[in-house]
Amino acid sequence: MKVEVKVGNIAEWQDEAVVVNLFEGVKKPGGATGAVDLSMGGSLSKLISSGDFQGKFKQISVLPTFGRIPAKRVILVGLGERHKFTIDCIREVSGKAALQVRDLGLKSFSTIVHGAGVGGLDLPETTEAVTEGALLALYHFSQFKTKKEEEGKDPEAMTIVTTESRRVRAMQKAVDAATEIASSTNLVRDMVNTPSNEKRPRKLVDMAVAVAKEAGLKCQVLDENKMKSLGMNAILAVGAGSEEPPRLLVMEYNGGKQTRPIVLVGKGITFDTGGISLKPQDGPLGPIWEMRHDMSGMAVVLAVMTTAARLKLPLNLLGLTPIAENMPSGTAQRPGDVIRAYGGKTIEVLSTDAEGRLLLADALAYAQKWKPRAMIDVATLTGTVIYALGRRVTGIMGNDQSLLKRLEKAGESVGEKVWQLPMFDEYAEQLKSDLADMTNSGGRSAGTITAAMMLKQFVGDTPWAHLDIAGTCWVHGGKESIDSSYMPKGPSGIPARLLIYMLRNWRKSA
Ligand code: BES
Ligand code: ZN
Ligand code: MN
Repeated sequence: MKVEVKVGNIAEWQDEAVVVNLFEGVKKPGGATGAVDLSMGGSLSKLISSGDFQGKFKQISVLPTFGRIPAKRVILVGLGERHKFTIDCIREVSGKAALQVRDLGLKSFSTIVHGAGVGGLDLPETTEAVTEGALLALYHFSQFKTKKEEEGKDPEAMTIVTTESRRVRAMQKAVDAATEIASSTNLVRDMVNTPSNEKRPRKLVDMAVAVAKEAGLKCQVLDENKMKSLGMNAILAVGAGSEEPPRLLVMEYNGGKQTRPIVLVGKGITFDTGGISLKPQDGPLGPIWEMRHDMSGMAVVLAVMTTAARLKLPLNLLGLTPIAENMPSGTAQRPGDVIRAYGGKTIEVLSTDAEGRLLLADALAYAQKWKPRAMIDVATLTGTVIYALGRRVTGIMGNDQSLLKRLEKAGESVGEKVWQLPMFDEYAEQLKSDLADMTNSGGRSAGTITAAMMLKQFVGDTPWAHLDIAGTCWVHGGKESIDSSYMPKGPSGIPARLLIYMLRNWRKSA
């Protein structure tokens, strides 16, 4: 869908539909909604006074205009209570309206900017949220359907109508940034949705390199021989059971003067069977087929890197994404094996299903070569994070509170909440091994924390944060799940928007 900003009066605007809004409890609409109401002979006021429309959050009503205004329909959306209004409400409401337009089968529609000026929200910021909400809500994945039902119904154009002619350029810039961010979030969703037979390591690397090059990133792919010579035995061990050897994709974006990069590391397991520690078909946290999402971290890192390049952020970034398929076979690693990770530390592999931390161990240790200013890893690392925080909140841990603060702030702003779990020294006991420097599994209790504590042993003294997205990478629907108009069921794309927001504001917030 193409999004454009144009100057005009929504009450005189011609389109299939125009979207206006109302806060809860408002009896007499003002502003753009008021203008539409007036031209419509008070139809909106009547709808309100009849009690049929209260302005409740995400309430929606479609009114035919019968030629009273040039637009064919008015879509009225509720903004909810004014004091509860946030930037995320704009995304929700805009997403809701866009879905309504798709349901109606309309090819184009126009909207006002919701919430500009409310609670200090400025016009470019709210314009960005309107654009993002609509583009994210309309996402669907039909690559593997021969009959592409939704595709024919997608609206092709959304026009943001404003009377503020002097702000149009700033608003169009906001639209362009939001379009970039939404399309990279949707790229994450596409990659995660892609079934695992269509994204085995070789193919996934090819896809990623194509995307990265297109955005102008420098790429390097380390194959199994290169990794062997560097001593990345943990990545190799995870990939040993698969007919397709593992890869390490290294992406570089140099947009800043500062030479030391911010490093992003993403777990890229194309499918997680558990290996010899085979997963059950129906685990307590879901069916095994969901494990096609185990490369979510890798897809997020790719998307954030390409967006940073497209938005020309003044930073140097390095993306490291180890990619492997975790399979049981005659060549697979065994429970009880000891491997020597990059840099020399030894790990006793108690469970081949705790493979993510092995991949990350090598990648995090390797990243030290670049002397990072900060390092952030993203991984669908532990099922237990779902017990700790549920499916709405991402678990974060790290060794640097100011970095974690940045993540919290960004998460709050983009509607992707995070919460810190404690890495107390007391938990270290659980990772002790009789055979090696550590084990790769601290048992079930505090499983998310002990996983992070293992990673911590590979980051040196680099400021580092870890995001465990096992609960949030996928929207399940139902009571436990994220309930959002712009997060359709399936891959969420979390935390791509969070990281992009954090990087865009890197210099502003300390
Ligand atoms: N990819 C899984 C984590 C996961 C589980 C993500 C469920 C989403 C939903 C990870 O590789 C894994 O298997 N972790 C194990 C660790 C355990 C063996 C120490 C887990 O969480 O059960
Ligand atoms: Zn996994
Ligand atoms: Mn696993």
